[in-house]
Amino acid sequence: MELTTEIKIRKASHSRLHEIDFKHLQFGKHFSDHMLICDFHDEQWHEPIIVPFANLSLSPATLAFHYGQTVFEGMKAFRMFDGRVNIFRMDKHYDRFARSLERMSMAVVPKEIFMEGLKTLVDLDKEWIPQEADCALYLRPFVIATENAFGVKVSSDYRFIIFTAPVPSVYSRPIKVKVETEYIRAAKGGTGFAKCGGNYGGAFYPTQLARQQGYDQLLWTDAAHHRFIEESGMMNVMFVIGDTIVTPPSSDTVLDGVTKDSLLTLATDLEFKVDERPLSLDELENAFRENSIIEAFGVGTAAVVAPIRTININNTDFHLPEHSHENLSHKLKQRLERIRTGQEEDLYNWCHVV
Ligand code: COI
Repeated sequence: MELTTEIKIRKASHSRLHEIDFKHLQFGKHFSDHMLICDFHDEQWHEPIIVPFANLSLSPATLAFHYGQTVFEGMKAFRMFDGRVNIFRMDKHYDRFARSLERMSMAVVPKEIFMEGLKTLVDLDKEWIPQEADCALYLRPFVIATENAFGVKVSSDYRFIIFTAPVPSVYSRPIKVKVETEYIRAAKGGTGFAKCGGNYGGAFYPTQLARQQGYDQLLWTDAAHHRFIEESGMMNVMFVIGDTIVTPPSSDTVLDGVTKDSLLTLATDLEFKVDERPLSLDELENAFRENSIIEAFGVGTAAVVAPIRTININNTDFHLPEHSHENLSHKLKQRLERIRTGQEEDLYNWCHVV
């Protein structure tokens, strides 16, 4: 579908911006003034509209509430050092969004609506982009199945929504993770690569069990044998073993992370060794025993880089050296931030200036 005119905007009568303490932001708790809505029915997407951020009114029979047809993306917009605003890697996020929607048999949002919708919304609410270090405007595009029917079926109607939220990074201190060898996150042929709600909901119970034992997150292993590392909680995971960054490859069970791809690109260009390959628990444990593991960290849109301080493997806690500014993860994160804020040249065309 092509947008024939500019996206219609119905502005909020007053802004809530002054209610926000940008020095003490909490992740996921504050929402900017507007949101975009676009509906799919009668086999087509209709004109999007931007309206004041507000609750939705939906029938209890709405399909999304029952059989899990919900898909989202997690993206960020940044304030650049010269005052301009940019949205990070829109194309790559769109591609993953489209793949997730397809896997869940949902209507795929046309790229033009996704791109123009994000740009118009971010431009409208640009005052909501935090200036503080490590903060950004989180962008949450998502689609839900809206057919008003509770028979088990593929929905014929969908709603695409984008709202935005000023956020800090999710983890402010190094985290403790536990290798999960009983429960699974994703199996081959399943939906692990898709950002569908069920992947997150299904992870809550085992994650809660690990939290009760004092861990922040799980390190997921493969569903068949629990031999290989996959992801950490809601992030991809990287290890510095010897002089090499080792990270499990994206697959149908591992999310194709945008932050992961960005950091690996930067690492390669800085001539660090990168090895995207399966990493077994045995190898990880040996790396601890031989002291060849130097760093471990989660990477994702929300966290950017989350240093790991402890990994529990089969009931033994293995500790990593204290995180410092000399760490590779810190250097890569700094470089990424400098590109996103325009302090370093964007050689990759990652930043879409709004
Ligand atoms: C991300 O970091 O990519 C996310 O989307 C995290 C979100 C589930 C809070």
